[in-house]
Formats: sequence, structure tokens, C-alpha cells
Amino acid sequence: MKNNKITLIIDGVEIQTKNNSTILETALANGIFIPHLCYHPKIKPWGVCRLCMVENEEGSLVTACESNVSDGMAISTETKRIKAIRKIAVQLLIANHDMDCLTCAKNGDCKLQDTATYIGIDKDDLHSFRQGIMDVSNDDSNPFFKRDLKKCILCGICVRICGEVVGTNAIDFSFRGYETQISTFANKSILESNCVSCGECVVACPVGALIPKKSIKPSREVKTICSYCGVGCGIYLGIRGNNIVNVRGDPSTPTNQGNLCVKGRFGHGFVNHPKRLKSPMIKRNGKFQEVDWNEALTFISEKLLDYKKQGSVFAAMASAKSTNEENYILQKFTRTVMNTNNIDHCARLCHAASVTGLSKTIGSGAMTNSINEIPDTDCVFAIGTNTTSTHPIIGMKIQKALVNGASLIVANPMEIELCKNADIFLQHNPGTDVALIMGMIKIIIDDELLDIDFIKDRCDNFVEFKKSLEKYNLDWVEIITGVSKSKIIEAAHIYAKAGSASILYSMGITQHVNGTDNVMALSNLVLITGNIGKTSSGINPLRGQNNVQGACDMGCLPDVYPGYQTVDNPVVFEKFKNMEL
Ligand code: FES
Repeated sequence: MKNNKITLIIDGVEIQTKNNSTILETALANGIFIPHLCYHPKIKPWGVCRLCMVENEEGSLVTACESNVSDGMAISTETKRIKAIRKIAVQLLIANHDMDCLTCAKNGDCKLQDTATYIGIDKDDLHSFRQGIMDVSNDDSNPFFKRDLKKCILCGICVRICGEVVGTNAIDFSFRGYETQISTFANKSILESNCVSCGECVVACPVGALIPKKSIKPSREVKTICSYCGVGCGIYLGIRGNNIVNVRGDPSTPTNQGNLCVKGRFGHGFVNHPKRLKSPMIKRNGKFQEVDWNEALTFISEKLLDYKKQGSVFAAMASAKSTNEENYILQKFTRTVMNTNNIDHCARLCHAASVTGLSKTIGSGAMTNSINEIPDTDCVFAIGTNTTSTHPIIGMKIQKALVNGASLIVANPMEIELCKNADIFLQHNPGTDVALIMGMIKIIIDDELLDIDFIKDRCDNFVEFKKSLEKYNLDWVEIITGVSKSKIIEAAHIYAKAGSASILYSMGITQHVNGTDNVMALSNLVLITGNIGKTSSGINPLRGQNNVQGACDMGCLPDVYPGYQTVDNPVVFEKFKNMEL
């Protein structure tokens, strides 16, 4: 065995693979198809459909989705016994299934249909198993998708995706025997449940039990970035004619790896909304009039020339939803044509505190770690972020971290969704973040939970910092924050003792008058524990728009040129002045 690789034989074909993969993963990765219906690569194997049964060299039957490969293993996937087992398993699934394949939205993309074809099922063989289609009505309550339990094969993929990937646990198995079905708590409609309508279950459902209400197949796809929040999920827009008919997550984008939230997946109706402007309009005599682009551009340039002559009366607002190129051009136009630094964008409100606070403490106002490192952290400290609502895909990453065994500390004046799974919930009074964070820092210093080597090598002024906290009093912190000392101590210990700890924060701490102080306090917490400069750790501002970082980097801020070169530095000014247009 070399480099963690092993050799095995599947149906006479010699294969080399990693020794921690399953037989099913190995077979599929090497072009050998083994039927499967309850396996899904994003969740733990469950072994309930029994279709992936294979035979090992000892003649034992094992489920390929649950069994790991081993060196020297010899697997058969097509013996007489296996064929018989698979056939009866599929016959039982189909016997009481709706047979309206041609009118089913899943036709051509249905795993049960494919499996039945692969195995070869004769309709006449089904009579002895047939008890009749389940008497259960469709659930059309959700605005985006419908449930048809008559087509459900009870593979449990939707239940596990909702629990393991999304972390919502809106559905589960209920009833028993032939009556078994997937239902919400108390078997209410989906709309009345805690379902967040992300549609992850719909995408993962192998049959037609969960399908989008608008199910039009696109004629082409366009790869792009979701325009909603700061996660920047990769998506494919499905286009038919000149309309967006669906959206699917891009599995190759590291941030979302194919996952999407309700907004990204279903919130595209505005693009083709009839009320959208399609041509420029100029207001004349108090009323907007449609004009062509030539007239509009001439009108704008004449107006801008007037403003330019008047001196510094012009300001431009860039957009954190525009590309780097667009933002760069706008700041360049503002500075070189309109002769002013009056350019800004939404970071002024949402994350100016991050830009300033992080630049001062660690040198750059950006997330220190990647979004896809979150699932591997040992501890998530979420402060000032209602992550599952505002950055749902990062909420899913936190859920994944919890499934992997991470601890979760939530600090928020509001009891948010994340609190359900938190190890500690610090419900501090609004505006007391600095007191809370400095309280945690004081405990970490007093209880000697510091990363001394990191501090010696990488931090400045620690002695002065420590001295400044000598009189810091936890009783006072308790009064100010409204959080008990014992909880703050517990949170500080969990955070400081974790092998890697990731701080996630957002506008809940940056949009205060002391937002920069909040950010700098978090920086200090990260620095004294050495939770920076390594994977799955760091201090991570969750931005409001999908290109806030780019708009800042491009210099769409009044005080800095591109690359955060300050406008009041004469050397920098000369450099830009002498640059060719
Ligand atoms: Fe293995 Fe269903 S895929 S038992």
C-alpha cells in the first residue's frame, strides 16, 4: 500500500483508489455503474434501498454505499443472487408507484425510471405486489415546489439533506409500515412547517415526489454569480427564449458547491418583470419620458459638464453588485474626469468598520479564510450575524461544521435560528459587543489560554494591551452586557481551547457608532489565541453584497485609490497623477 492507495478488483477490473472511499464511490468514479437510489454524495450513506448490494470474495452480500474498500478486495456487482435481489427491490418500489411517467415533470431525469430500465422490469410481474397507490393528496402549499407523496420511494434523501446539509430538519419519516410517509411535524403542510424553501430537497429528490412548481426545461444555460448576498454563489441560469426559467447551483464553485438558498434558486422573477425599465427616461415637466440612448447620454454628459465647472459638487455611488471592471472605471471617471474623490458605495454603511478595523489590526479588510473552510473548523463564533437568514449558504457550512463535531457560540441580542444548535448563546444587550469580547479576552488572559508563541512571533504591544485590562472587571461586564459571567467564561474557554476557531460577524456589529472598535476587539481575540494564519480559523466579515470586496479593492471609496493606496499620501497622488489615462 503506497500513498494511502489500495488496489481492488470490481467485476474483474483492477482499480487503484484511496482506502477511505466506499465501494459505490469507487465503482462510480471508475465508470462501473451500480444501481442506487438512497445514496447521495452530499449526505451520509443510509443503506435502505438495498439496490447497491454487491458480493465480496467470500460470497457475502454488502451494501456498496456503506462499505469501504480494502486492499486486495474482489467485488462482483452482477451475480445471479444480486440480480434477483435488485429486481425484487425495484418491483416493490414500482408496484405501488404512479405510472404516469410521460406526464411526470421528472420524466427523463428520474432515477427510478432509469433503474427500472437498467434492471429490466416486466409490468406483468408487478401484479402480485400491487396494493394500490397510496391515498394521500398533493401538498401545493409551498410557493415554489410541490410534494406528491404518491411518487415518494422513501429513500430518505430529502430528510437527510434537510437535516445534514441545510440544518432545518423540517421533515422526517412518520407513520409505520405501508402507511409510512415523509411529513412535517404534526403532518402539517410544508408552508406551515419550519421549511426555509431552499429547494435543496427538490434538487436531490431522485423521483417526481418533489418538483418545482415552474418546471420548464431551459434551452441553454448561462454561468454567472448570484446577485443576492455576499456569499457569491456560482449559478447557472436556465434560459428559454429570452426568459430565465430556472436556476441551478454550480457544483464547481467552492463557496456553494451546488447548494443554493430560496432567493438564489427561486427569486429570479424580477429579471423578466413587465414593469422593469427597458429604455432610458428623462424627466421633463415633472414627467418621465422614454428616450433613446444617444439622447440620454448627450443629456447626461452636458449635465456632468455643468457640475464639473461648478467645482466639487459631484459624487458617484458605485455598486457592490457590479463587476471589478465596472467599479474601477467608475472611480477612474470620478477622479480623472470629474476631478473629485467623491466616490463611495454601500461598504460605507455595511462594512466600513471592517475595512478600517481589520486594516489597522491585521493589515487587510477582508475575510482571512475561505468560506469552504468553515465545515472543518473546531469552533464557530458567530457574532452580529443572523447567518441562516442573511447568508444561508454560510449557514449550511456552519451546519456541516456541527455535523463534523464543531462547537457553536452565538452572540446576538436576538434569539436567532442558529441558537437552536448553539453550545452557548450569549444574548447580550444591544451595543455591548466590545464589553462582551473584551470580557472573553480578559478570561483568556487570566486563565492562561493564550497562544504565547504566536503572540511573541506575530503581535505588537501585547504587554501594554495586557496591562490595559488589569482592572477590567467581569462583574462590570455582566452588568453591562446582561450575560452571566459563567456563560462568558464558558464561551471564552470553548473558543480559546479549540484547535481552530472561526469568527463570523456581520452588520450586527459593524453598523454601530463603535463598529470599528467591535471589529478591533474581535481582531485582538483572534490574535491572542493564534486563531489566524491557519485553515478553518480567522476573522471573517460576512459582506452584504456579492462584490463588496471588489468595489473596495477597486478604490470605490473616497479615501483610497485602487489597492487601498491613500489619497492623502503625496507619493501615491503623484503616481496616479502621472499615470496614463
Ligand atoms: Fe446503497 Fe441504497 S444506495 S442501499
